[in-house]
Amino acid sequence: MKAVTRSHYGSPEVLSIKEIDKPSVGDEEILVKVHCTTVNRTDCSNLTGKPYVVRLFTGITGPMKTVPGTDFAGEVVAVGKEVNNFKPGDRVFGFDDNGLSSMAEFMKVSVKKAVRHIPNDISFQDAVASAEGAHYAINFINKVKIRSGEKAMVNGGTGAIGSALIQLLKYNGLKVVATGPADHLEKLNALGAERVIDYKTQDFTQDDEKFDYVFDSVGKSTFGNCKRLLVNDGIYISSELGPYSQNPFLAISTTFSEGKKVRFPLPQNTPESLRIISELLESRNYRPLIDRNYSIEQVKNAFNYVMSGEKIGNIILNIIKTPD
Ligand SMILES: NC(=O)c1ccc[n+]([C@@H]2O[C@H](COP(=O)([O-])OP(=O)(O)OC[C@H]3O[C@@H](n4cnc5c(N)ncnc54)[C@H](OP(=O)(O)O)[C@@H]3O)[C@@H](O)[C@H]2O)c1
Repeated sequence: MKAVTRSHYGSPEVLSIKEIDKPSVGDEEILVKVHCTTVNRTDCSNLTGKPYVVRLFTGITGPMKTVPGTDFAGEVVAVGKEVNNFKPGDRVFGFDDNGLSSMAEFMKVSVKKAVRHIPNDISFQDAVASAEGAHYAINFINKVKIRSGEKAMVNGGTGAIGSALIQLLKYNGLKVVATGPADHLEKLNALGAERVIDYKTQDFTQDDEKFDYVFDSVGKSTFGNCKRLLVNDGIYISSELGPYSQNPFLAISTTFSEGKKVRFPLPQNTPESLRIISELLESRNYRPLIDRNYSIEQVKNAFNYVMSGEKIGNIILNIIKTPD
């Protein structure tokens, strides 16, 4: 079968497309004919092995999985003998931040992992684009107790995480103000932001409004700079560790003090994230933001674009050629 492969950590230049053996399924696994994956920021970390902490999960000296890919949407073609909740022909999608080797024509996955049926009438592309960013967005929200009527500032609303976060907050009845690049501000309104800020011409940390939450989904701010935006018991969450890796420490220290707090969005329980997002897709209360589609042959270009930091929402890598 055709697959994207690499033998060591590095830039997209380490990637090549090769013919490799099709995987065989174990008793609790399914074999999936992959229609598409995304190229996302988790794939970029798994490709480069940076930040170095990711190597604890992906391989210290080199990648344990030679085929990259963390998410997939496709069709079940075979099931192990212990599997009774999936059958050949089922449309499925899934995500695992440690890697699923999904940038290939076929992949296997344990049914104990985050894998679900794609809701009826949802395309393979929409399903796969609803996994990675939405999982991290859910892991911002589940670190706090959001209530309808509260106010949230989302920095980086055009990212995969930010575009999911705006929709999830709006769905839960919060008022959202979001930042993004000037060319795409109308997309933020369409996702549910009541007010938008062009991050290149306006410093969102100087905004006059006060918020219950500041969610920095592109990790470009600090708690110190955002404090003035928060109400007295407001909470700050960032997707990054902070310039001095301070955010996990602030999350601990502010737990024991009065006033404004930091939470660290350690991602967990991927199956639960997939359950939540499946239900929202099914009830048409969630629609992923998709930027570009690439073919498997264009995988290096896709990674380079994602690494540029300029993508809007999600980038699809089509393994099966889509009709023009
Ligand atoms: N280590 C990991 O495994 C991992 C996994 C997932 C996410 N993350 C982190 O989570 C963050 C978000 O990832 P993502 O995939 O959601 O983001 P993303 O899709 O790469 O975000 C890109 C978008 O954010 C906008 N942007 C860039 N800087 C901004 C700023 N200062 N203010 C407002 N908008 C800005 C960009 O606009 P322009 O077009 O103007 O550039 C672009 O529209 C990143 O920091 C990423 O490193 C890390």
